[in-house]
Amino acid sequence: ITIFVPRDAAALALGADRVATAIAREIETRGLDARIVRNGSRGMHWLEPLVEVRTEKGRIAYGPVKPSDVPSLFEAGFLQGADHPLCRGRTKEIPFLARQTRLTFARCGVTDPLSLEEYRHYQGMKGLEKAVTMQPADIVQQVTDSGLRGRGGAGFPTGIKWKTVLEAPGAQKYIVCNADEGDSGTFADRMIMEGDPFVLIEGMAIAGLATGATKGFIYTRSEYPHAIETMTAAVEIARKAGILGPSVLGSGKAFDMEVRVGAGAYVCGEETALLNSLEGKRGIVRAKPPLPALQGFLGRPTVVNNVISLASVPVIMDRGAAFYRDFGMGRSRGTIPIQIAGNIRYGGLFETAFGLTLGEIVDDIGGGTASGRPVRAVQVGGPLGAYFPRALFDTPFDYEAFAARDGLIGHAGITVFDDTVDMLKQARFAMEFCAVESCGKCTPCRIGSTRGVETADKIAQGIEPQKNRELLADLCNTMKFGSLCALGGFTPYPVLSAMNHFPEDFSPAPIAEAAE
Ligand code: NAI
Ligand code: SF4
Repeated sequence: ITIFVPRDAAALALGADRVATAIAREIETRGLDARIVRNGSRGMHWLEPLVEVRTEKGRIAYGPVKPSDVPSLFEAGFLQGADHPLCRGRTKEIPFLARQTRLTFARCGVTDPLSLEEYRHYQGMKGLEKAVTMQPADIVQQVTDSGLRGRGGAGFPTGIKWKTVLEAPGAQKYIVCNADEGDSGTFADRMIMEGDPFVLIEGMAIAGLATGATKGFIYTRSEYPHAIETMTAAVEIARKAGILGPSVLGSGKAFDMEVRVGAGAYVCGEETALLNSLEGKRGIVRAKPPLPALQGFLGRPTVVNNVISLASVPVIMDRGAAFYRDFGMGRSRGTIPIQIAGNIRYGGLFETAFGLTLGEIVDDIGGGTASGRPVRAVQVGGPLGAYFPRALFDTPFDYEAFAARDGLIGHAGITVFDDTVDMLKQARFAMEFCAVESCGKCTPCRIGSTRGVETADKIAQGIEPQKNRELLADLCNTMKFGSLCALGGFTPYPVLSAMNHFPEDFSPAPIAEAAE
């Protein structure tokens, strides 16, 4: 009998280790023949820790399980999939999972993250096995044809980026995986690294074969200790198995990689600051051009891709470009792991083809707010993403559709707020966040963000509100067009969207005269 208890950080934070210990104790005292696998997360946060049992009827889910629930689960016969107040039925039939299209996250939460055998059993390595037999330009063409675009936020076509690196002159090239997942409310990169690390290794190895890069780095954050541990162990296993090293899968082509840990700065998720940090320098932004694709790590041609972009490549190589491209809408092809967070009833990771509307995601899939109050605003794309009011809930999840409404999909994190939110405070927070995280290289961002905080405070205090609203909007325009990178350039998005869609929060009642 196999019992699955997640080792994902979200499940651990909710007590998964204590649940696993309690289960192990029951197995021992009852003298049962059962083993515990520590899998990744299925991404249903309201059910974590989600314990599963493999039975004749398939995998049966129980959650959220507390250590004190464990004896009663055994009493009820959960090892045979018996009913219990915490029983959620067959895992794959839970509506939140059943409605997804899991291509990139196909194995996440299903397998033992460090079992290469299970990885291969569930279609893993098929993409790399094909890639080793192909010419680099043909791999690049397949990725281009799939329509895959950068999942870090900018949505740049991955195949075109790879082509630039393939064609760039240079004896040494690099693959850098941007795993510095800094957006509030996002966790897709972490879930892959903790729940299915081999898919990222496979994707990076394919990128190496496609571009002629022989060395890769995963740049991640010190705040992700479990991801660091799992990724590092997986790289070691892959090296021993001949997947990484001087001859990838016996092809005679070399590719190896290592995990590097940053010291924790939002701006190090910006690709050029990341490269500086990786080189051991202070993480400040470099001017572009030159593009990293031509002069990146140590000045050499470098692919910098987000975790999800790279982890989506194996399925594309395995099933073909057309298979992947068939999902989605417009120029947004394939699937996207939407991370639903904030004040939400059913929060978690929902991988689906592009095209669902924001309203379907929040109301239908997310089930509205956890507080039960009406949804008032949704921030899409992390701390630099725009706030959307209910009136824009018909916006489909698509890069261009969001851009057309002055928003961005970013890394596909969405944070939900109920009607108690104060949008002026949220606008102030965006400016404050920028002031704290600014690398300081350019004036609109470094100085503008601090002036932005002050101006928001004046509006809140009722000091010349009309003049200060105009000033704040003006400041936003300067930051938008005058900043060197997306941190300063996109901070205006949450500020302006808050002002435009929720003007009532920017007109506080004038301060009453102090009574005698
Ligand atoms: P960018 O638009 O300058 O470039 C996108 C990527 O394509 C970069 O990796 C760049 O090096 C590469 N690139 C551009 N032209 C190329 C070419 N000809 N050949 C090869 N590679 C090429 O975007 P950047 O500065 O990386 O990020 C800004 C974007 O980030 C914004 O457009 C915004 O949508 C997004 N963003 C995402 C956030 C998030 O939530 N993660 C937050 C804020 C902004
Ligand atoms: Fe640095 Fe801000 Fe300028 Fe970006 S916009 S380069 S973070 S100062």
